[in-house]
Amino acid sequence: MLNIALPKGRLGDQVLRLFSRIGYECAEIYENDRRLVLESPDKNVRYLLVKPSDVAIYVEYGAADIGVVGKDILLDTNPDVYELLDLGIGKCRLAVAGKEGYQDSRETVLRVATKFPNVTKKYYSSINRDIEIIKLNGSIELAPILGLSDVIVDIVESGKTLRENNLVVLEEICPVSARLIANRASYLFKNDVVAQITRKLQEVLNA
Ligand code: PRP
Repeated sequence: MLNIALPKGRLGDQVLRLFSRIGYECAEIYENDRRLVLESPDKNVRYLLVKPSDVAIYVEYGAADIGVVGKDILLDTNPDVYELLDLGIGKCRLAVAGKEGYQDSRETVLRVATKFPNVTKKYYSSINRDIEIIKLNGSIELAPILGLSDVIVDIVESGKTLRENNLVVLEEICPVSARLIANRASYLFKNDVVAQITRKLQEVLNA
């Protein structure tokens, strides 16, 4: 049985469609209940539905053999896993955002609110800017509105959340998309099936 960790939500639904196209469909998954483990015994796979930010943890520790996770999370947590494929879905970008016209005076330490403390530190260290990180877990856009931070570092997909909160992108950090990852031991010991899935996904992406 191959354990596949999927991010619950929008991205997870797209990943399931992708896996269906390569013959790993799971009828149970569409029943929309509260089960977190869905088995497809005839396909010999088990889907684990986890919080997007936890996918890499399940894979790193071997609770899942493979998984799908955003590059933003990989960059921030740097898990000890193999990154096998860019799936070209869940495309967005990591960016610095703030109030329109915000100018960094560089006179005081910049306060940055984010869910991505490590990417943020790395980015600002690369431009030699001293910052203080305010780690939040969601609704990051509130921080500059309330003066909790000067700017935010967050993912921007459609830009709607920023627009509706009167914020704008100030600097781009990097593009983001969903990646197929594998546990290091599973990659060795279940290589046949992991390699087959990777190859079939690549063929679908090329088509
Ligand atoms: C993410 C991100 C932004 C939003 C960007 O939040 O943190 O708030 O999506 O998408 P958009 O550019 O299409 O508006 P998420 O929906 O994960 O919720 P969260 O605030 O709880 O993190």
